[in-house]
Amino acid sequence: MNLLDFKQSILQGIPSTMPEKYNYKNIDTHAPKRIDCLSKPEKKLAVENALRYFPKKWHQELSEEFLQELNSFGRIYMYRFKPKYKIYARSINDYPHKCKQAAAIMLMIQNNLDDNIAQHPEELITYGGNGAVFQNWAQYLLTMKYLSTMKEDQTLSIYSGHPMGLFPSSKDSPRVVITNGTMIPNYSKPNDLEKFNSLGVTQYGQMTAGSYMYIGPQGIVHGTMITILNAGRKIGFKNLNGKLFVTSGLGGMSGAQAKAAVIAGCIGVVAEIDKQVIEKRYSQGWIDEKFDNLSELSTRLKTAKKNNEFISIAYHGNIVDLWEQLLKDKIKVELGSDQTSLHNPYSGGYYPTGLTFNQSKTLISSEPELFKQKVQETLRKHVSLINQHTEKGMYFFDYGNAFLLEASRANADILDSNQKFKYPSYVQDIMGPLCFDYGFGPFRWICASGTNTDLDKSDKIAAEVIEKYLQEADEEIKPQLQDNLTWIKNAKLNKLVVGSKARILYSDSKGRIEIALAFNKAIRDKIISEPIILGRDHHDVSGTDSPYRETSNIYDGSQFTSDMSVQNFVGDSFRGATWVSLHNGGGVGWGEVINGGFGMVIDGSIECDKKIKNMLFWDVNNGIARRNWARNPNSIYSIKKAMNENSSLQVTIPVLVDKKTLEFI
Ligand SMILES: NC(=O)c1ccc[n+]([C@@H]2O[C@H](COP(=O)([O-])OP(=O)(O)OC[C@H]3O[C@@H](n4cnc5c(N)ncnc54)[C@H](O)[C@@H]3O)[C@@H](O)[C@H]2O)c1
Repeated sequence: MNLLDFKQSILQGIPSTMPEKYNYKNIDTHAPKRIDCLSKPEKKLAVENALRYFPKKWHQELSEEFLQELNSFGRIYMYRFKPKYKIYARSINDYPHKCKQAAAIMLMIQNNLDDNIAQHPEELITYGGNGAVFQNWAQYLLTMKYLSTMKEDQTLSIYSGHPMGLFPSSKDSPRVVITNGTMIPNYSKPNDLEKFNSLGVTQYGQMTAGSYMYIGPQGIVHGTMITILNAGRKIGFKNLNGKLFVTSGLGGMSGAQAKAAVIAGCIGVVAEIDKQVIEKRYSQGWIDEKFDNLSELSTRLKTAKKNNEFISIAYHGNIVDLWEQLLKDKIKVELGSDQTSLHNPYSGGYYPTGLTFNQSKTLISSEPELFKQKVQETLRKHVSLINQHTEKGMYFFDYGNAFLLEASRANADILDSNQKFKYPSYVQDIMGPLCFDYGFGPFRWICASGTNTDLDKSDKIAAEVIEKYLQEADEEIKPQLQDNLTWIKNAKLNKLVVGSKARILYSDSKGRIEIALAFNKAIRDKIISEPIILGRDHHDVSGTDSPYRETSNIYDGSQFTSDMSVQNFVGDSFRGATWVSLHNGGGVGWGEVINGGFGMVIDGSIECDKKIKNMLFWDVNNGIARRNWARNPNSIYSIKKAMNENSSLQVTIPVLVDKKTLEFI
């Protein structure tokens, strides 16, 4: 399809003639079939809801087709309306538009739905199994149409994928306001999601899926690298030369561990039970070497340690067998973690020892109780081996995969004398205090021209800003700035760009603002050819309230509230964001987290300088202020510093109580 046809197709929205019927093929990329949970009257309602998008004359034919989709897949995706043109992040000027901000949003939507990026593109799922951009193809078509006609004084409201419409607003308002999965609290249980998603009235937006801000695997590699480096610092290593990091999982997110270990400068060994997964990572170049034989692996590790190699090694087998062998061969492990999918322990997220991969898969459905028993036995052994390694000086952390929780449910030796977990989670010990509390988080940008030249220039500009900042920074944050400088200088070499020309760079408030201002100037001076889209992951300082992850290092009881993320969403919207989003669910599950994010298109104007200073400052310092109020020391330090630098900022500082005062209670 040529560019003109593509533009016409976007402008048309729902086509005027019915597209041909969809030919469903059994391909791996299809989303899992969702449960069939609606009663007959509810199914009738779901089909009626779906037909709202189409002319009456099509209703008879479509009602039968949509019912069939609902019965077969648990959802109505409206497969036949998936457009015929290729969906990917094009250059901003390829999108028909009346305002550039809207064109930039179209680019981001298409990036999230790119066949080479999205996990289940046919079902509009970007990642995480159910992270949806839209519920169905009609919503996509209508949204693109609205964006292509949008003027600079209109705002599009998106209700869980459904474009409610364009409303008059003002030039300074966001162009799009998105909510995903927001529910009346009593209707926010996992089964409610199944029901209301099947009815077509809500969806699971994950974090960057439903907010159009996904940038592929780059984000997770950078975050994992930061975690490994800081885990090393926790136990006193200035660098990780010759140090061994052992973990498991080379899957969706866990696959980043191997690549991140090499970038962090250590030896990373990752156990993976599924041979196919290892082959995929090996062919991508994310794994340098692979082993089946444990004693050969031990010999290799001794050499790698002696030579201080930066290397990633996959062990094909069970993580528990690997931990056992390393103990037997007296190989010192400095850092340890686990990224099996223990959030889903009994349906294939975690494989027991003593069985082959295929034997396990059969047992899951043939004898689920026996399978559960074997998983729990393995978990007990797993923890016992970890305990023996930590007694020898290893630092172990939970990687947000429910390892500690499931180990405790399996009665493993994972609790200390106070009945608390023996080991910390990565947010409690690392990301929280060392990054989020200081304001460091996953800032990102996308070059809307779609050119590598602009991306290279932006990398160089960001590196110069951080280099300058590092010279004048306080000692407290120098290590973080140094990590970011190393990352951005090597970013191109690491070859992690997939899809849109995007870059991630952990930064604090000052870093984000200075980098964005420098980009805006470069656009103004025509050094960078087209606008840049600024954004971030929701897994950040202020964007996410999640008591077992992002806000797990909040200890004043407020970790079960979601004021911070809601305040952030609203606050960003009137300080200059081009679009804002607020989601229920993401990462740890529906009902377990509220998270939000933004996108900001900068075009070189002086107006954008003001928006950058105002919105990015709030976007980070809102979270630091809340973390300060929860008495987190690094945030008390950071917010006081921010107040010194900006006299308009006045934040309430907590009065710390002498613990002795409370001893009588
Ligand atoms: N990387 C992050 O930043 C991050 C953040 C939060 C949570 N997590 C959690 O990490 C977990 C992994 O995520 P994913 O997307 O990679 O999942 P995934 O299911 O794609 O990958 C997990 C891998 O572990 C392997 N595995 C399972 N049991 C094993 C065993 N006993 N020995 C060796 N290998 C085994 C599986 O074959 C699979 O390939 C999830 O629970 C996720 O929620 C990751």
